[in-house]
Amino acid sequence: MRIVNVVGARPNFVKIAPLMKEMTRYSGISPVLVHTGQHYERLMSDQFFTDMEIPPPDFHLGVGSGSHAVQTAEVMQRLEPILDTMRPDVVLVVGDVNSTLAAALTAAKLRIPVAHVEAGLRSFDRTMPEEINRLLTDAVSDFLFVTETSGQQNLVAEGIASEKIHFVGNVMIDALQAFRHRWASSSVFRRLQLDASCPYAVLTLHRPSNVDDPVILMNFLEALEVLARHISIIFPLHPRVKHQLLRQGYLCGPKQNSGEPVHNKGITYLEALGYLDFIALMSRACLVLTDSGGIQEETTVLQVPCLTLRDTTERPVTISHGTNRVIGTDPSRILGEALRTMDDPPRPDGRPPLWDGQAAHRIVKILHDHHTGRGGV
Ligand code: UD1
Repeated sequence: MRIVNVVGARPNFVKIAPLMKEMTRYSGISPVLVHTGQHYERLMSDQFFTDMEIPPPDFHLGVGSGSHAVQTAEVMQRLEPILDTMRPDVVLVVGDVNSTLAAALTAAKLRIPVAHVEAGLRSFDRTMPEEINRLLTDAVSDFLFVTETSGQQNLVAEGIASEKIHFVGNVMIDALQAFRHRWASSSVFRRLQLDASCPYAVLTLHRPSNVDDPVILMNFLEALEVLARHISIIFPLHPRVKHQLLRQGYLCGPKQNSGEPVHNKGITYLEALGYLDFIALMSRACLVLTDSGGIQEETTVLQVPCLTLRDTTERPVTISHGTNRVIGTDPSRILGEALRTMDDPPRPDGRPPLWDGQAAHRIVKILHDHHTGRGGV
């Protein structure tokens, strides 16, 4: 059974690591890995392959950055001849980035079955590019693997046949658990000179709606500088926000392009971190502030309070069973919510169902059993 796995952006690499590992346990499965090149800098890509022991890609499409249409079209154009020649049994895609949708569409039009890992999540906000990617990927998928029960409900409500939907748990949590021994010994604390008694918060921002408009971004930073009078903030920079900060002259000084941390008004600005360092950093934080999707899930399992700087979440289980609070995008709420949360953190009673480190095992077994005629779709 040949499975072509397509990844392109940072969160995809985290999700594919446990799946590729599981596939290699089956003598009857030949996994092929395609990297679209959507993310291409070392810290956004290669570092994740090293940290998570992902085999080098069999194909690298070298697509790089571009508008949504250009990026999606380039992936489709470069992937089509590979899939057409190889004719795999399944194309597996993960998450909700442009590479996910592009690969799913390409495969579906070649009539190759599509498996979508992390199906069914919905923010119900179609201004998010990821929401469009999620809706369309699910619409053309044959195997829809969901992480939480809301995903099942959303897919059924959209008319997807229930036999295509499989509630399997969360591969991102498989990765967190499988690599615990490695991230727990990360040297990031020594490198950042953070001693165990020094409380800190971690911040990530990368959504276009939060960082592309300089006024919105500066309003966030002003509010965060006020919070930083109460707790120091560590801010690893996604390239999108780093470019914007450099453009605004916010990260100036001799260190700006040296890779060294820049300290300003209680906030430490860092280059993007690799997987092991970033999970280690979150694991000891008093608070995480983020606009990411996956971080809401990782903090839930690390039991670190998370404030989501968005108006919606597509991952409601992180609120009902986790440590997440969605506080919106009004910067004036940040200080009060952060102090309240540190004073009275959410105390989840157990983990979300099936977030037990076995999601990749379930997914690969379902695909394999279906191929060998032992399971039904
Ligand atoms: C993408 C995903 C988003 C995901 C995020 C994780 C889409 C629509 N968005 O957003 O869902 O949460 O990845 O990081 O697919 N850049 C670099 N180096 C890189 C990659 C990007 O400098 O290695 C810069 C480029 O200027 C590029 C910009 O970042 O234009 C945005 O990259 P892109 O892949 O288009 O989207 P992300 O914002 O990373």
